[in-house]
Amino acid sequence: MKDAMLIIHFLGLGMGLGASFANMFFGIAGARMEPNEAKKFRLSSLVLSKMGQLGLLLLVVSGIFLMAPYWQILSSSPLLIAKLLLVAVLITMIVLIHRAGARAQAGDADAQIKKIQLMGKMALLTSLLIVFLAVLFFH
Ligand code: HEM
Repeated sequence: MKDAMLIIHFLGLGMGLGASFANMFFGIAGARMEPNEAKKFRLSSLVLSKMGQLGLLLLVVSGIFLMAPYWQILSSSPLLIAKLLLVAVLITMIVLIHRAGARAQAGDADAQIKKIQLMGKMALLTSLLIVFLAVLFFH
């Protein structure tokens, strides 16, 4: 059971971090396009955030199962507490990116795309920090 949950955890990691990295490279590609083309391209690439959301969902669901042996030592495990707090920060960012995406589709594209680009970079950094903390704590 634990192995299955760990596999799901890593699949979620691949989808979540993969979406963040792809978003960064799409940002670079969009910066080289003319403004109208870039807007269309960025609106279409919003579909990528669905992959990130699904990845995060898989991470949280499998993570809750994987936590079973660690709840008792949680209060004396600052690295694990830091990891879980950063997961809460990441979830907040993903919710904000989702909202900004919906507003961009509804018409306010330019302002919302800028917000999404900034929050996307912050979400990528937060995810990398979570991986760093997880490996430091669990190994
Ligand atoms: C509520 C959310 C989460 C919980 C409760 C959780 C919990 C856990 C637990 C308990 C393990 C250890 C499994 C074991 O015993 O081997 C683990 C491993 C890991 N988690 Fe999470 N996790 C969550 C979200 C995340 C997120 C968002 C990321 C990355 C962005 C992440 C990255 C990792 C990595 C890289 C490992 C493997 C560490 C290693 O074996 O060296 N987790 N997680």
